[in-house]
Amino acid sequence: MADKIKTTISHLNNCVDHEVTLSGWLYNSRSSGKLVFLILRDGTGLCQCIVEKEKMPEDVFDAVKHLGQESSLRVTGLCRAEPRSPGGHEIAVTSVDIVCPTNDYPITPKEHGVDFLMKNRHLHFRSQRQWAIGKVRHTVIDAIRRFFNDNDFTLIDTPIFTTIAGEGEQTLFEVDYFGRPLHLAQTGQLYLESAAMAFGKVYCFGPTFRAEKSKTRRHLTEFWMVEPEVAYTDLPGLLELGENFVSFIVQKVLEDNRAELEMLGADIAHLENIKAPFYRLTYTEVADILTSDRTVKFMADQLAAFNARKTEIEKQLADIDAQTKAGGMKKWKQEKNARLTIELRSELSELETKIENNPKHAQLAADFKWGKDLGGSDETIISLMHDKPVFITHYPKKAKAFYMKTDRSNDKVVENFDLIAPAGFGEMIGGSVREDDYDYLVERVKEEGYEPESYDWYLDLRKYGSVPHGGFGLGVERTVAWITGEKHIRQCIPFPRMMDKVYI
Ligand code: 4AD
Ligand code: MG
Repeated sequence: MADKIKTTISHLNNCVDHEVTLSGWLYNSRSSGKLVFLILRDGTGLCQCIVEKEKMPEDVFDAVKHLGQESSLRVTGLCRAEPRSPGGHEIAVTSVDIVCPTNDYPITPKEHGVDFLMKNRHLHFRSQRQWAIGKVRHTVIDAIRRFFNDNDFTLIDTPIFTTIAGEGEQTLFEVDYFGRPLHLAQTGQLYLESAAMAFGKVYCFGPTFRAEKSKTRRHLTEFWMVEPEVAYTDLPGLLELGENFVSFIVQKVLEDNRAELEMLGADIAHLENIKAPFYRLTYTEVADILTSDRTVKFMADQLAAFNARKTEIEKQLADIDAQTKAGGMKKWKQEKNARLTIELRSELSELETKIENNPKHAQLAADFKWGKDLGGSDETIISLMHDKPVFITHYPKKAKAFYMKTDRSNDKVVENFDLIAPAGFGEMIGGSVREDDYDYLVERVKEEGYEPESYDWYLDLRKYGSVPHGGFGLGVERTVAWITGEKHIRQCIPFPRMMDKVYI
């Protein structure tokens, strides 16, 4: 036999029939008489390690048997292929080196509230769900860089301390910069426009900050955004770039993280369908849909489906309750029922919220007036009506940012777009063609109540070799939430910051 191989669980397929050493943490364990089954976690996967009493000094076997969840340890043994084991391998252990025994790990398989888990975010990371989301996020970010780097874009790092507002003054975070008020970047776009005139195709990628007063599951105050900006492009060109980009990200995650997606219960068939072209609707068409009979019926059907599912869940919970009361249940069955109960109760509470919100959202849609920005619930309705992402273009000028180009064939609207993710996840991308005419832009800056002097350098770009150009921003956390099926974006960033909560 070859020498022991120090390896990771992800590389065990190259180590079958060799003696290996794995270094990790105890995810779970059970013992039956002369055997202990350790499920080891090493950051790359899970692996079952079987410890036999006869092969160990008695004190070591005893210590292993009583090791608590998240104890750290090194395990050496023979690697065997075992299709029934998580990850497809198991280790017949020959020695165990306990690095840090642990007995009171606070996060147990029982149900914990969100606040508790968030306060323990530094530990909660180790849970399988958080781990899988972290892996998908990694791939999304890798795919973002790869896509732009392979398509002749140049990375431009834009500043975090900024002098001008990009996305409306009401969400600016002000900082005291040696006595001068500056703000944290809401977007890198305005700086990027200057870079596009130097490099042609550019992108920036970094954290952005918004003092969002909303506590929804779609809003963070600190989130990551990637923004491409292209000289000499138009609206159709930007939509094509956006759909190719999003399709590329999704395909890359499907390639690299299928196991994680399965673990998360993501809708893989839906993701496989995410290929260009996406749907295209104008804002005006969306306004017509929202106020149409189609939406009335759609909302009524949704409500009926929610109620039917609610009845089904209540029956399942009652069945479990009856089984528990009858007694005599095997331990494994009790545990299975306990897990199922947690899942069903959480689905039930979500359904109750949806049932409560349905009539309000139906009313908002019915009352929708041309000229308003689309609300979260309006986006959700459109998104639920489609099986692929939807571009919504040509919003009313009044509802949108000052830099968006006025449509010369209808000056009430701008040449912009949002990309709405399917399945109710809402806006994932916002973008536009930029106003490239000096006079139009000065007018818009004034209308917004900004001082044109503060925008001097930005206006210069319209004086010196102005060209049609545009770009967009994609929010990383919203993209990860959509791909993984995670409902709240706070789970899609390592250390979330929200309006009402900064935990650790
Ligand atoms: O639509 P937004 O505000 O667009 C811009 O910032 C433009 N300057 C982008 C550009 O054209 N270069 O934001 C873009 C995306 C949204 O579609 C969303 O995915 C994400 O950024 N986003 C947020 N994500 C999490 N929390 C928030 N508070 C977010 N606000 C925007
Ligand atoms: Mg937007």
